[in-house]
Amino acid sequence: MEDSQTLISPTDLVGDRVRGLQEYAPEPLGETAQRLGLPPESLIKADANENPYGPTPAALRALAAYDSYHRYPDPVSRRLAARIAEYVGVPQEHILVANGSDELIDLILRLFRPGRNGGGIAEIIDCPPTFGMYSFYGATNDMSVVSVPRLEDYQLDMQGIAAICSDQRPRILFAASPNNPDGRLLDSDSLNALLGLPLLVVLDEAYVEFAACSRSTWVPERENLIVLRTFSKWAGLAGLRVGYGIFPSALMPSLWRLKSPYNVNGPAQTAALATLESADEALARVRRIVSDREAFYLRLEGISGLRVFPSQANYIMCTLQSGTLAELKEHMEARGILLRYYGQGRLESTLRISVDTPERNETIACALAEFVAGARTR
Ligand SMILES: Cc1ncc(COP(=O)(O)O)c(C=O)c1O
Repeated sequence: MEDSQTLISPTDLVGDRVRGLQEYAPEPLGETAQRLGLPPESLIKADANENPYGPTPAALRALAAYDSYHRYPDPVSRRLAARIAEYVGVPQEHILVANGSDELIDLILRLFRPGRNGGGIAEIIDCPPTFGMYSFYGATNDMSVVSVPRLEDYQLDMQGIAAICSDQRPRILFAASPNNPDGRLLDSDSLNALLGLPLLVVLDEAYVEFAACSRSTWVPERENLIVLRTFSKWAGLAGLRVGYGIFPSALMPSLWRLKSPYNVNGPAQTAALATLESADEALARVRRIVSDREAFYLRLEGISGLRVFPSQANYIMCTLQSGTLAELKEHMEARGILLRYYGQGRLESTLRISVDTPERNETIACALAEFVAGARTR
């Protein structure tokens, strides 16, 4: 081969915004099991707010019967969108189905990011502690991310948000309700107040089935509200990646133009549709998780040395009053228990536990109680 001198160095040309990002690569379960020297089936995976019961029997049957792997899926998920419209109680013209709600966060930001000739929306408002993908996709879309931290009790800082908006420049605000990690709902007065500001409000209701209080039906009445929902949590389909947005209908033509053609694969559409056709099965499991959450909350609250936060979602946030998160992680992992540990800034001593089956919740509570008792006497 001839000795050739390349004229560019691609790695040096990677954009600055990418250099500053952290790779999101949680350890796969098989590797965790290997690292801990435990069989994978013995692990209690309570770190990602997944559904311990998995997909419904109807969804599994539909997947087993699926025979169109060689065909491209419906690019606009028609049948699924029609069912979603019935399920959420808004006309189908407001619904766009996507590859998880993550894809929709990115899509919304791509829709509004300023073009070469200006226009668009240059800034998003992020209200931490919250789901990390808002600021992540804000950064990857070259938008400025303005942080308005939540108050001590995890409510939005409405005064802080209003102060930023006083210059009347348009911004996109993301708010999860229930919020991740604390599990608190956004109240209607606050949502109304946000909608009265020069904001496009994206209300992320990934966990709303566990709270039974969706604002999806507000969308047709509001020009500046988008609601995001997903099949990952209540329907046990996190691995198939199906989310959807309820958008003001005026935005839909632009969204259809922008979205990737085959963003939701065939099996995912089929399983989500089957879930909705027998939604009672999935919602019965949701009710079980909610009642287990309440029992788990009381159990955790009884452990002195833990501060426990009431939650409307399928997880419970706690803070540790003695010992460190690193020590706790070691203690729990030795018992095959995986939780979500935060450990930075305001979340220095904070962990989040996904609600699992009653037996596994009890195993988690016992291991936590043991750790806290030991930490207090050390
Ligand atoms: C608040 C919130 N929104 C969205 C998501 C992502 O949902 P999906 O699996 O539909 O991308 C999560 C996942 O943990 C979440 O916590």
